[in-house]
Amino acid sequence: MAKKLAASNSSLASRLLLSLLCLVSLLLCFSLFRNDTASPSLTYSVLPEQSNSNCNYSNGRWIYDHTVRSPPRYDHTCKEIFKGWNCIASNKSNAMDILKWRWKPYGCDLPPFDALRFLGNFRDTNIGFVGDSLNRNMFVSLFCALKQVSPEVKKWRPVGADRGFTFLKYNLTIAYHRTNLLARYGRWSASSNSGILESLGYKEGYRIDVDMPDGTWAEAPSFHDILVFNTGHWWWAPSKFDPVNSPMLFFEKGVPVTPPVPPDAGLDMVLKHMVSFVEMNARPSAMLFFRTQSPRHFEGGDWDQGGSCPRVQPLVPQEVEELFSLKHNGTNVESRLVNEHLHRALKGTTFQILDITHMSEFRADAHPSTAGGKRHDDCMHWCLPGLTDTWNDLFIAHLNSLKARN
Ligand SMILES: *[C@@H]1O[C@H](CO)[C@@H](O)[C@H](O)[C@H]1NC(C)=O
Ligand SMILES: *[C@@H]1O[C@H](CO)[C@@H](O)[C@H](O)[C@H]1NC(C)=O
Ligand SMILES: *[C@@H]1O[C@H](CO)[C@@H](O)[C@H](O)[C@H]1NC(C)=O
Ligand SMILES: *[C@@H]1O[C@H](CO)[C@@H](O)[C@H](O)[C@H]1NC(C)=O
Ligand SMILES: *[C@@H]1O[C@H](CO)[C@@H](O)[C@H](O)[C@H]1NC(C)=O
Repeated sequence: MAKKLAASNSSLASRLLLSLLCLVSLLLCFSLFRNDTASPSLTYSVLPEQSNSNCNYSNGRWIYDHTVRSPPRYDHTCKEIFKGWNCIASNKSNAMDILKWRWKPYGCDLPPFDALRFLGNFRDTNIGFVGDSLNRNMFVSLFCALKQVSPEVKKWRPVGADRGFTFLKYNLTIAYHRTNLLARYGRWSASSNSGILESLGYKEGYRIDVDMPDGTWAEAPSFHDILVFNTGHWWWAPSKFDPVNSPMLFFEKGVPVTPPVPPDAGLDMVLKHMVSFVEMNARPSAMLFFRTQSPRHFEGGDWDQGGSCPRVQPLVPQEVEELFSLKHNGTNVESRLVNEHLHRALKGTTFQILDITHMSEFRADAHPSTAGGKRHDDCMHWCLPGLTDTWNDLFIAHLNSLKARN
């Protein structure tokens, strides 16, 4: 096993070296034949920020790039970084190395977004992230990148938001609205005036109203110009929604859905209702995004069974398939399952899909792991700075191309 791993490591290294050599020679060729433009930095001189509509940004590979970006996008001193995600401050051994991997889509490039240009292009705009803690991770990444170039911020919270900031020079507001399931939910217990659920033997559980948005974000569509949604992790979380002791009980129009349906069918109902709620209540020029599922990387067991993520390098494609393919039905299989539901629900809607799953599947190295400060390893959230910075590069590349089209 160790031998196999070492072999695959060294072949990875030689492949990386090869790709680097190719890149460098390509860059050299370009600079030879293009003496009209001054190139500010070798690495990004041929990577224009304009979007390429034919390119699938989500299909690519990670390249180790030892050239240091200066100045960095932001660092561990950004106050908004949640302690458990601040891998540099908590001395995770590979915290700096995480930042040297660059996502390279096949057929185009996805360079780091230009924070000042973004602020200038999106003056007087409100941007809302609606979802679970993984969307907060993405929100913090964007906040820190913008704060680095435009430090005058006002902290305040739009209605229902958990966190929010306005970048005063640009009147651009970003906010995070916390919601686990998108739909409203709360504890349910059997009552004495026996209803249908009682008659079926249910005693305790969670009532989930599939057609009612969580109060934390119900006002968000009328406030924000740009919205980024996610849901997923909580639908496959038996430690909270135990199928026997505290099952999810779905309600529609205020009455129980009968016969009761399993969580994956409930997810479909919630997505259908929430997507149409957003489309009906969004501002006329709103840009709507749904982010795909963020993969977890527990190996050797789930989070509560001693699972861990000690890797310090991204996975190779074969390892990605072993960990995530539906066929293998491993610990982290829910990620691609959630995506099947999302893709079905979003087909034919005005939502843009922000497909971050595949690029993230490689990054077993980029979680807080034991540096998360919890009793178990955190192989779910991401170190900041880190991977979700690339999610924002993708997000802003999409925004720029939408803006260019309008
Ligand atoms: C470089 O620029 C010079 C003058 O601007 C031009 O004559 C020459 O053809 C250019 N070389 C290449 C390789 O484009
Ligand atoms: C883009 O690439 C991803 C990752 O390989 C793939 O899942 C997705 O289907 C592709 N999208 C399109 C529109 O081809
Ligand atoms: C990280 O290392 C620094 C310098 O050695 C030390 O001061 C700090 O206490 C360490 N932080 C943690 C969370 O271990
Ligand atoms: C700031 O932007 C909002 C729209 O998001 C707009 O309603 C408001 O008038 C702007 N404020 C100023 C001072 O321009
Ligand atoms: C996948 O594995 C889980 C346990 O790890 C099991 O409960 C489930 O039935 C399996 N699903 C399929 C389709 O094999």
